[in-house]
Amino acid sequence: MSCFKIIGGKRLSGEIEVCAAKNSALVLLAASLLVQGEVIIHKLPDIVDISYMLKILEALGSKVKFDGRTVVLDNTDIISYEPHKEYSKKLRSSIFLLGALLGRQKKAVMVYPGGCEIGLRPIDLHLNGLKKLGVDVLERGGYIYCDSTLATSGSVHLDIPSVGATENLILASVLIDGVTEINNAAKEPEVVSLADFLNAAGAKVYGAGTSIVRIEGVKKLSGVEITPIPDRIIAGTYMIAAAITNGDLLVKNCDPKHLIAVSDKLASSCDISVYEHSVRVKGYSRPNSIDLIKTMPYPAFPTDLQAPIMALQTISKGNSVIIENMFETRFKQVNELLKMGANIIVNDRAAFVIGREKLIGCEVKAEDLRGGASLVLAGLRAEGVTTVTDVLHIDRGYFRLDKELNSVGADITRVE
Ligand code: EPZ
Repeated sequence: MSCFKIIGGKRLSGEIEVCAAKNSALVLLAASLLVQGEVIIHKLPDIVDISYMLKILEALGSKVKFDGRTVVLDNTDIISYEPHKEYSKKLRSSIFLLGALLGRQKKAVMVYPGGCEIGLRPIDLHLNGLKKLGVDVLERGGYIYCDSTLATSGSVHLDIPSVGATENLILASVLIDGVTEINNAAKEPEVVSLADFLNAAGAKVYGAGTSIVRIEGVKKLSGVEITPIPDRIIAGTYMIAAAITNGDLLVKNCDPKHLIAVSDKLASSCDISVYEHSVRVKGYSRPNSIDLIKTMPYPAFPTDLQAPIMALQTISKGNSVIIENMFETRFKQVNELLKMGANIIVNDRAAFVIGREKLIGCEVKAEDLRGGASLVLAGLRAEGVTTVTDVLHIDRGYFRLDKELNSVGADITRVE
């Protein structure tokens, strides 16, 4: 397992560019199965989860050409409806193949998805929603056997505005005759990006980005070319990197409209200037703490930035309360931050962070993607050397985080 050796205390400054969003690109790749023709996706982040998804598509019969930036997929001849088992278990987004294969093949045989171990990660909302649309679903022996031959349009209500369930139900219904309605749908920008992609291919998806999404079934989708939206979570991570190092960063190629909740919370910890496609963040030597952070569905503060902003709170002036409402066990970074001298008390879904003057570098372990990112941020600030192990977790969602941060003044060495 590789690790990052970080020499702390360097102020970050300069310009840093955000890549395309992992959580948009992954669902677009799955959605490409609905198109009997060529799909071109630009600026694909060359991260581990993307490579797994491309391997799954190839095994299903997709002809894949990926040069590390642009992928050309020809999904004319999809020969299977059973995604590769081992790769599917490695990522959460393999579950999107269910909706796409039901739309394309009318059948799917899936294993349960993988993904960061940040909670139970159930898929009941996905499966119950599909059943409401007449899909036959059988869970047996670790497999999910689905058949949508008799599926019809209908109305589905989601108990929780689940991003994945919203996206999966859209994928499953774009080729079903009639109008399907998803109530209490997730409003994340990645859902809007998926609707834009499908509509560009000839689908009729209305209301994405609101809590009611309507899909009017069409017969066929045609070839499409798209660039996914910028990664708002990476943009937020870079903003926090500037704040925690008392730096001065221009975060480019982001959409500030996707970051309003993040900028609002960070406003007490740094100076933020917002432009059309970039944000400039100037840190303070010791940021003020943020009294309360509650993770909620978009457009509220994103759960994926809970761990990164916690790193900032550990060295802020004052105390901060962080409530993680979305996932049951998303405080795994706490024990590692405590090793660095942080003062954090966890009680169920609440973390009480008492700001400290400084952190001291030491060896810490990345347990999941965003928790790992928070340890890197803490290492940028800490005195001495911080070694973050198991960086494969980080590589799943950040494209060359070490190289990107080094380009603006960090001192991170990747040790294989
Ligand atoms: C997506 O996960 C993202 N992953 C996550 O990003 C992100 O944290 C999450 O949305 C919330 O924004 C991808 O897009 C690949 P949910 P997803 O369904 O779809 C519960 C990252 O770090 N739920 O919106 O799995 C669930 O347990 C990753 O990039 C059910 O109860 O999230 C959670 O409490 C981590 N039943 C809540 O809903 C279900 O069937 C929201 O989950 C589905 C979800």
